[in-house]
Amino acid sequence: MNSIDINGRVAIVTGGARGIGYAAAERLLRSGATVALWDIDGDKLGSAREALRAHGTVSADVVELTDEASIAAATRAVAERHGKIDILVNNAGITGGNGRLWELEPAIWRRVVEVNLVAPFLVCRAVVPVMLQNGWGRIVNVASIAGKDGNPNASHYSASKAGLIGLTKSLGKELATSGILVNCVTPAAAKTDIFDQMKQEHIDFMLSKIPMGRFVQVEEIAAMIAWLASEDCSFSTGAVFDISGGRAVY
Ligand SMILES: NC(=O)c1ccc[n+]([C@@H]2O[C@H](COP(=O)([O-])OP(=O)(O)OC[C@H]3O[C@@H](n4cnc5c(N)ncnc54)[C@H](O)[C@@H]3O)[C@@H](O)[C@H]2O)c1
Repeated sequence: MNSIDINGRVAIVTGGARGIGYAAAERLLRSGATVALWDIDGDKLGSAREALRAHGTVSADVVELTDEASIAAATRAVAERHGKIDILVNNAGITGGNGRLWELEPAIWRRVVEVNLVAPFLVCRAVVPVMLQNGWGRIVNVASIAGKDGNPNASHYSASKAGLIGLTKSLGKELATSGILVNCVTPAAAKTDIFDQMKQEHIDFMLSKIPMGRFVQVEEIAAMIAWLASEDCSFSTGAVFDISGGRAVY
């Protein structure tokens, strides 16, 4: 593992109880950051915090990311507990299952957009003013190759991630001279608990699209997130960072 210097920084990782968020939290901690895990799954959150304690200072808040009041309370709690907020990783997300557009329930379609797109908007809306107080920040949004390509049988997921890419580009420009950089990553499929939300044929389809012929490891995504959260990332904002094993063509 190469070393990335994030010493002294305070990071929030949403969906940090498992999967990519957990790996990102571990990498940030091992790079010197203090980390606040935000997740709706209290049990998993508690065990993640216990396991991650070996790597540094880590706290945990149960947050429903589609709820403004819950986000406001957690933002205040982190700022009071750790003194500031430097890094935000908008990682939590859901798939909403698989099906052709006309077969998907409107309520599920809306929920995917709420969790994957509206929630990152609400979290940025709460956290950016805190970052502006210090004139420094790094926001990393976890989008997906699905947002660039548009996966069949995942119109809700693909549209929400395309929206998150657009949010990243807009906010990056709005904050370009503020010291706060905003970027997103677009991973191909990683074998996490999120696979339980998808049909096996969809997982097989995603793997078949990856020229490297394997799933991305969560640690590989975490390494890219950690670099984007560091001072070494200094002239990139509103940008989309591919980590799709060769699938992306733009
Ligand atoms: N695993 C993949 O194949 C893959 C590929 C590309 C992008 N992504 C994206 O990466 C992110 C993380 O994926 P993962 O595979 O680690 O997923 P995961 O299901 O393993 O973990 C997601 C976490 O987010 C939390 N969460 C979900 N909804 C929430 C809400 N409303 N409020 C608070 N917490 C909530 C869950 O409790 C869970 O702990 C997601 O945005 C996903 O879309 C995943």
